[in-house]
Amino acid sequence: MKIAPSILAADFSRLGEEIKKAESAGADWIHLDIMDGHFVPNLSFGEAISAMSKSICSLPHDAHLMVSDPENYIEPFAKIKVEYITFHIEIGGPRTDLGQGRWVYSVAKAADPNRIKAVISKIESLGSKAGLAVNPPTPLKAVEPFLGQIDLLLLMSVNPGFAGQKFIPEVMDKIRAAAQIRQKNRYRFQIMVDGGVGPDNVKALEAAGVDIVVAGSAFFKAADYVEFVRRMKS
Ligand code: DX5
Ligand code: ZN
Repeated sequence: MKIAPSILAADFSRLGEEIKKAESAGADWIHLDIMDGHFVPNLSFGEAISAMSKSICSLPHDAHLMVSDPENYIEPFAKIKVEYITFHIEIGGPRTDLGQGRWVYSVAKAADPNRIKAVISKIESLGSKAGLAVNPPTPLKAVEPFLGQIDLLLLMSVNPGFAGQKFIPEVMDKIRAAAQIRQKNRYRFQIMVDGGVGPDNVKALEAAGVDIVVAGSAFFKAADYVEFVRRMKS
């Protein structure tokens, strides 16, 4: 199981130091949560912070674009050589109000296949690998037509926008179904799960077919990062 700390949950007053500590503790990737305040009810950071992370840390980075118009963000992230650029299948879909100033996007009937394919091609033409992300309310069948073309399938286990939320267990069935489709068709994509992951659920995720987990709060709140990585991988 690979671990990708989400730096959104790190102490921003010591961000560079925290990223280096994550790397030397044995993290596998660095996860960049990019939020535009429209696709999700929060703003995070962009290209400058991401470039800083790339410049001090040699681990692969994946940019998780929680943005309504991923087309506008591919060039800057490809330019700083972020290895994986992931965008959401729900772009252009309906927005559901969750109350308390929160919302989540889903897919109405089907995503616009031409737009999805064009974004994947744009990512690849600029030298990064393409990922597709799926929100909790979206069925796996919404991404099925594109699974042969991507390198990363990011299954959200919280409604995106904030670190420190509770894992939504319904995602387990989606993980198992994705792993089955991958095996049957010999697809190459890795399965990543994002949101509410920690030592309590990592074993079940691994058994279901997950290759890489994002850990935000669980990682950066741990007293000892080396010990945290060891627990997650044991
Ligand atoms: C959710 C983000 C996640 C999140 C993970 O909006 O995409 O990457 O920050 O944080 P934890 O592990 O705290 O749920
Ligand atoms: Zn994320």
